[in-house]
Amino acid sequence: MKKEALKALFDQMTIEEKIGQTVQLAAPFFEENEQEITGPLNDMGITKESLWQAGSALGISGAEKTRKVQQDYLQHSRLGIPMLLMADVIHGFRTIFPIPLGLGATWNPELIKESAAIAAKEAAVSGLHVTFSPMVDLVRDARWGRVLESTGEDKYLNQQYARAFVEGYQGKDLKEDFSKVAACIKHFAGYGAPIAGRDYNTVEMTERTLREQYLPAYKEGIDAGAKLVMTSFNTIDGIPATGNQKLMRNLLREEMGFDGILISDWGAIGELVPHGVAEDLREAAKLAMKAGVDIEMMSPAYGKELQQVMEEDQQYAQLLDEAVWRILVLKNDLGLFEDPYRGADEAAEQAEIFNGKNREKAREIAEKAMVLLENDGTLPLKKEQKILIVGPKKDSRDLLGAWSWQGQQEETTTLMEAMSEKIRNENILSIEDETDLYNGLNSFHIAQIHEADVILVVLGESSEMSGEAASRSNIRLPENQLALLRELKKLNKKIVVTVFNGRPLDLTEVSNSANAMIEAWFPGTEGAAALVNTLYGEANPSGKLSMSFPRNVGQVPIFYNQDSTGRPLKEDAMSEKYFSRYLDVENTPLYPFGHGLSYTTFNFSKLFLSDNRLTKEDTLTVTVEVTNSGERKGVETVQLYIRDKVARVVRPVKELIGFKQVTLEPQETQAVTFTINEHQLAYTHTDYSVSSDAGEFEVMIGPNSSELQAASFSLEK
Ligand code: IFM
Repeated sequence: MKKEALKALFDQMTIEEKIGQTVQLAAPFFEENEQEITGPLNDMGITKESLWQAGSALGISGAEKTRKVQQDYLQHSRLGIPMLLMADVIHGFRTIFPIPLGLGATWNPELIKESAAIAAKEAAVSGLHVTFSPMVDLVRDARWGRVLESTGEDKYLNQQYARAFVEGYQGKDLKEDFSKVAACIKHFAGYGAPIAGRDYNTVEMTERTLREQYLPAYKEGIDAGAKLVMTSFNTIDGIPATGNQKLMRNLLREEMGFDGILISDWGAIGELVPHGVAEDLREAAKLAMKAGVDIEMMSPAYGKELQQVMEEDQQYAQLLDEAVWRILVLKNDLGLFEDPYRGADEAAEQAEIFNGKNREKAREIAEKAMVLLENDGTLPLKKEQKILIVGPKKDSRDLLGAWSWQGQQEETTTLMEAMSEKIRNENILSIEDETDLYNGLNSFHIAQIHEADVILVVLGESSEMSGEAASRSNIRLPENQLALLRELKKLNKKIVVTVFNGRPLDLTEVSNSANAMIEAWFPGTEGAAALVNTLYGEANPSGKLSMSFPRNVGQVPIFYNQDSTGRPLKEDAMSEKYFSRYLDVENTPLYPFGHGLSYTTFNFSKLFLSDNRLTKEDTLTVTVEVTNSGERKGVETVQLYIRDKVARVVRPVKELIGFKQVTLEPQETQAVTFTINEHQLAYTHTDYSVSSDAGEFEVMIGPNSSELQAASFSLEK
C-alpha cells in the first residue's frame, strides 16, 4: 500500500481501533474465542468484541490455524487492517539449531545467518510475521538462566551475530520475500546483567559501561534493519526500562536512530506497578506511552486505561497516533495489506518444515558449535574400540533446550541411538540398570566396565535448568552425576565426558576426572548425530567458547575483558597478599573466552606489524602465519585483541577487535592479516563521547583470549 493510502486508512480509525492496535494477546485468547470468556480474558479486560481489536497476537502458528485466525480477524475489522502474528523463534522453528550460546561458539556469523534464514522460512510458511529474536544481551554471569539465549560475553562478537541474525531473518525486502520474518532486538537494555544472576532482578551499571559494552550489539541489530525492539524487565539507573523515557526516547530513538516498533516484554507495563514507579495501571500506561512503547504484550494497561488517559490529557492522543502509525507501517512493510495471509501455506509447510536440507544444516551447525574443552589424545574414538556409555543423558531426547517451542523431542535422536547407527553393536557397551551406579559400583558393574576401552559419560542439565526464570546459585552438574564420575574414576579407565547444557558450568571436578571433554550445549534436533560424528573424528571440533567458564561460582561474574586494576596480580608474585586476587582460587577461568581445541594442532608464527606507528588517516596491518602441525584437516579461529596502555579512563586488559577462521590441511600454512585503523581504538569517555587517545597500544593474536603473543604500536594524532 502506498504511504498516502496508509495515511488515509489511519485517518479513518477511531480511538478504540487505535488503542486496539497497541494491544498484543497470547494464543489462548483466540483459541478460547468459541467458548465463554472467563478468567484470564476478563482479567485482561478483554471482551468478545475487543478481542478482535487487538492488533497482534503471539504464539499462534500453523498455516491452517493462522489463516483461520486472520480470516476471522478481518471479518471483525471495519477497516480491513490485518493482524500481526508474532512468536519466539529463537534457535529454529521446528528444525532446532543449537542454543544461541552454542551458535556463539561457532565464531561463524555466516552460519548463524543461514540458521536464521531457515528458521524464518519455517516460521513464515506457518503464518508468522515476526520473531522475538535475536536476543543480543551481553552476558557475564553464568548463574543467569538466560545466558543460553545470548551469544556471549563479548560486544564485538555479539555485534557480528546480531547483524547475522537480523539479515538471516529479514532478508532484503520483507514485502517481496514472504519466506522472511521481521526481527526483534531484545531486551533493551542491559537485561543480561541482573544483580547476582537472578532473573528479573535490578541492573546496576554506569551509563558509560552500558554504552561501551552493552549497547553496541543492540545498535548493530538496529543498523542491520531490525523492525522491532523489545523492552527489558529490568531497571536502568532506577527506572524500569519499559517506562524509561531517557532510555527509550532519548537513547534508543533519537541517539541510536531506531524508528521501528518498540514492544514491551510480557506483562512489563503492568510490572511498573510492583516496581513501585506507577501507582496503578493507568499511571503505568502513561509512563509506557511517554517512553514510546508502541505495543503492550500481555498486560492490560493500554487496553483498559488508554481511553481514560486520553480523555484526561490530550498529549497522549499524539503519542498514541505515533505508536499506531508505526504499527501500520510494519504491517505494510510486511505486505499484509496486499496479502494478509502472507507466507502461510499448508503445502509449503509440508515441503519446508523439518525437511532433510534443514536438518542437514542443523547437524553441520551443531558440529561446529561443539567445543572440545580437554583432550589428552583419547579423542577421537576409534570404531574398533569398545565404548561403555553411561550417564543420565545417554538416552535423553531433552537435547533441544529452552525456547524450542515448536521443536519436538520425539523427533530427536538420543546419543545411544546415534551411536548404534554408526558403530557395530558389539562395540557399544552399556549397563542395563544404572540406578544403582550412583551409590557405588558393585562387582557386576565392575565386570561389565572391565571390558571397555573407554568410558563415555554423558552428563548435563535438563532443559528446565536454564532459560527464562531458571537462575541457579550452584552451577555445578547435579551431585549424583558427579558421584557417578567419582566412582568411574576409581577404575583407571579412559574417561570421555560430554555435557549437554545451557550455561558455563563449574566443570572443575569433571575436568580432573576426564581424559577428554566436549561441551555439546543443547545441540538441537540433530545434536546427537553431530556429537557422535565429533566423538569419532568425522567432524573435527572447531568451536570456541564465547563465554568464560569459571573454576567455581565464586568467580562469577568472570569475563576476559576486565578493566585493569591498580593492583594486578603479577605472574612472579602469585601468592602475595595485597593484590587483586582470591585466597582460595586463581583469578583465571577454568576455560577462557575463545578456548576450544581441535584434533589437530596449530602453530602461530611470530606476529608481524607493518609499522609501529598509526595515524588517523592510515591503517596498519598485523600478520601471523598459522600452520596446521597435526595430521588432520582443521579449522582455527585466529583472534585479534587490543589493549590501550594509557587512556583517560581505565581500559580493559584486552578487547577482541577481530577474528578470522582458516581451514588448513595437514602441514599447510596460511598467513592471516588484520587491518587496524584509528576507529577501532576509540572508546567511550566519561562525557560519553567516543574517541581514541594518542599513545601506545598492545596488539595481541592467538587461538584464545589467554594464549596470546603481543607487539606494540603507537597511535599518533
Ligand atoms: O520474547 C519473550 C521474552 O524474551 C521473555 N518474555 C516473554 C516474551 C514473549 O514470549
